[in-house]
Amino acid sequence: MYLLPLISTKQLLEMPSMWLLNRLDSIIEQRQQAVNSRNDILQLMLQVMADETDNSSKANDRLSREEVVSNIFVFMAAGYETTATALAYATYALAKYSEVQEKLQAEIDQLSLGDDENFNEETTKYLDYDVIMQMPYMNMFVCEVLRMFPIANGAVQRVASEDTVVRGIKIERGNNLNHSKYTIKNVIVLN
Ligand code: HEM
Repeated sequence: MYLLPLISTKQLLEMPSMWLLNRLDSIIEQRQQAVNSRNDILQLMLQVMADETDNSSKANDRLSREEVVSNIFVFMAAGYETTATALAYATYALAKYSEVQEKLQAEIDQLSLGDDENFNEETTKYLDYDVIMQMPYMNMFVCEVLRMFPIANGAVQRVASEDTVVRGIKIERGNNLNHSKYTIKNVIVLN
């Protein structure tokens, strides 16, 4: 109530997606002017972004500014909430099934990751993709969490390429299908 006068009508009317999009341009400007380069996906995209004054055919092989902005937006929108929700469900599953938590802990403990007491740069593995690939139980755990608590259901859509009938339901060519992964897991038993 007391904070209300501090918020302008413009801020209230700005949709979250527009808020993000409107700031990406200035973030790109800041990155281009920064002395130190960062090691992330935006920096990689900027390295292959076309110079806006370049009209040669070489510019076609590069990303346009709009493509960089759109890709960053999609990565933020598609990657942020999904990962946060998956981690929240994973935490819930670990708290509920302590035997699973112990098994996962045992798998992590057998990796020779760096710790403060016994640090050896030559032999110590860092937590990267190769290390994650040596964790089959972790992989099973994450897959099971996503099976039990499906995320981004609405994102999975398919258009029927031909007329068909599935379990007595007529689906016409061109129909947009959106299935519920949660229902399939919990209710439907396919013959
Ligand atoms: C646990 C984390 C995540 C879940 C549960 C998830 C879920 C999904 C689902 C269900 C789809 C639709 C797939 C389909 O149509 O078959 C999708 C597509 C997509 N996701 Fe994710 N996602 C996750 C993380 C991420 C991250 C971290 C990024 C990027 C940084 C990302 C980027 C995308 C993109 C770009 C698409 C569209 C792909 C396409 O249409 O070709 N997602 N995601």
